[in-house]
Amino acid sequence: MKNYEKELDFDNAKKGYKKLDNGTFVYKNVIQPFSKFSPAYVLTNEDIRWISGLTQAKDIRVLTVAGSGDQPMFYRMHGAKEIDTFDISFCSKAMIDIKNSAAHKLRYEEYVNLIQDLYKSDDISKIPNIQNILSEIPNDSLTFIQQMKNYLIFANGLNPCEYKNFILTKKEFEQMRSRTSTPFNFIWTDIDNLHLHLTKKYNVINLSNIIEYMTDKDKIYQTLINLRKHLKPNGCIIVQTGLLGVHKKNDMFYELNKDLKNWAKFGKVRKNPKDLNSYTIAFLQRTR
Ligand SMILES: C[S@@+](CC[C@H](N)C(=O)[O-])C[C@H]1O[C@@H](n2cnc3c(N)ncnc32)[C@H](O)[C@@H]1O
Repeated sequence: MKNYEKELDFDNAKKGYKKLDNGTFVYKNVIQPFSKFSPAYVLTNEDIRWISGLTQAKDIRVLTVAGSGDQPMFYRMHGAKEIDTFDISFCSKAMIDIKNSAAHKLRYEEYVNLIQDLYKSDDISKIPNIQNILSEIPNDSLTFIQQMKNYLIFANGLNPCEYKNFILTKKEFEQMRSRTSTPFNFIWTDIDNLHLHLTKKYNVINLSNIIEYMTDKDKIYQTLINLRKHLKPNGCIIVQTGLLGVHKKNDMFYELNKDLKNWAKFGKVRKNPKDLNSYTIAFLQRTR
């Protein structure tokens, strides 16, 4: 597991945040919402319960965006044997390490409160139970959180109280607890360079909610070509999720389907096949 301590440039990380009148430091780059130190989400708003459930086979190897940590947690809960994560932002590593430790150190109600506190706290060191949680996380995340404790590094997206149904249920929390507490592997990279860091082949590569923010078709195309080499035969890249995003890129998926047909097929899966408005994912499956 790589330790990123030497690569953490705190001056640079802090420069990305501005001080408000009330003394709070918030991320300032609205034009570039994702960067090396952009805040992490505390909760996913994708239907990761359903998505990770599509590939429930044991023994699978998964590569997923780290994001809020919910993706890797749900894959682990569903029995994936090996899970690697990646993200452009180091804040996501801090988040997955906190969540992983918290799932083993806290009671369910404390875990739910932690999600809310991480989103809004302007002093992470004062969050209840935080020292207990931090005692188990890798050094790079620990140092980062200590240095950035007064910065809103977990405040991306909506307030988690707006979408409470996405938080782990008590049953899921208990399932998570019963799994290993080993920290998730993390690769700190932009998706463009992700393939340069990979040495394994995966059954599932989940790019959940990244391509949605990419507008350059050639770049998307090249990313998929690069990642395809890291899929096992019949393995899938979950290219995009969410009904609206998938519909918006329909034409592009159709074109890519034609271009890539020698080695892969594109498809879409709707959560409720009878309902056109149902949650949808677009995937690319390696066929040879
Ligand atoms: C909209 S969020 C989706 C994550 C998911 N909803 C969650 O919260 O678990 C996008 C995630 O992808 C990361 N990301 C965005 N652009 C990226 C890029 N070009 N390369 C790598 N990661 C990226 C962001 O830092 C963020 O964690």
